[in-house]
Amino acid sequence: MNTKGLFITFEGPEGSGKSTQVRRLVAHLQEVGHEVVCTREPGGTPTGELIRDILQHDKSGESLAPETEVLLFASSRAQLVHHVIIPALDTGIFVISDRFVDSTTAYQGYGRGFPVDDVLKINDFAIDKAIPDITFLLDIGVEVSMQRLHKRHQGGAQLDRIEREEHSFHEKVRHGYLELAKRWPERIYLLDGMRSEDELEEEIWGKVSSKIHHHHTTDDF
Ligand SMILES: Nc1ncnc2c1ncn2[C@@H]1O[C@H](COP(=O)(O)OP(=O)(O)OP(=O)(O)O)[C@@H](O)[C@H]1O
Ligand SMILES: [Mg+2]
Repeated sequence: MNTKGLFITFEGPEGSGKSTQVRRLVAHLQEVGHEVVCTREPGGTPTGELIRDILQHDKSGESLAPETEVLLFASSRAQLVHHVIIPALDTGIFVISDRFVDSTTAYQGYGRGFPVDDVLKINDFAIDKAIPDITFLLDIGVEVSMQRLHKRHQGGAQLDRIEREEHSFHEKVRHGYLELAKRWPERIYLLDGMRSEDELEEEIWGKVSSKIHHHHTTDDF
């Protein structure tokens, strides 16, 4: 996006380390004096949080049609883009999103088999011009992803609807993410999520720092 702030997203399967790296990147940015807004997907606005609840817990007991699911994700995202992301970027605030449009493409498109180009079209409408400046894709295998999730759920949290999907679904999602990284190599930065948290933090910060430098020297602000 050609705005004053940078828009950075984190993607990858469950347990790949997105939230861990979001926290670390936000701390670095704040340390050097940047104002940061952190959003999460789906959710991030009051309306979006209501939609998140529908998507994750299926309280009604009714299964969601794939079309409904795609549109609910896109609705939550449209709200977030127009009420939070664009206003922040326009005033020079950095926006970090824990999941964004690539999650929908990977999960609903590649995972559930909804036509990928339709998913992209619906989301283009929802996000307007809010294309991330950089996306960090943390890649891990399905086994490790499941192990990390189970470790977390021993703490008592319940598995949500998407986390309970079968192994082959998660394989398709991972494959989908890797396809997206090939399609947009200039935007999506692929990282091996098996590396240590500290190593990943350092590489991400290096990349973001150079992006900030480039952004400041090419934009007139
Ligand atoms: N590089 C890493 N190596 C080993 N373990 C990690 C690494 N990064 C995160 N973890 C651990 O894996 C678990 C999941 O991490 P985190 O919550 O950051 O992942 P996530 O991608 O945000 O997951 P979700 O998609 O479920 O939100 C946590 O217990 C975290 O401590
Ligand atoms: Mg997380």
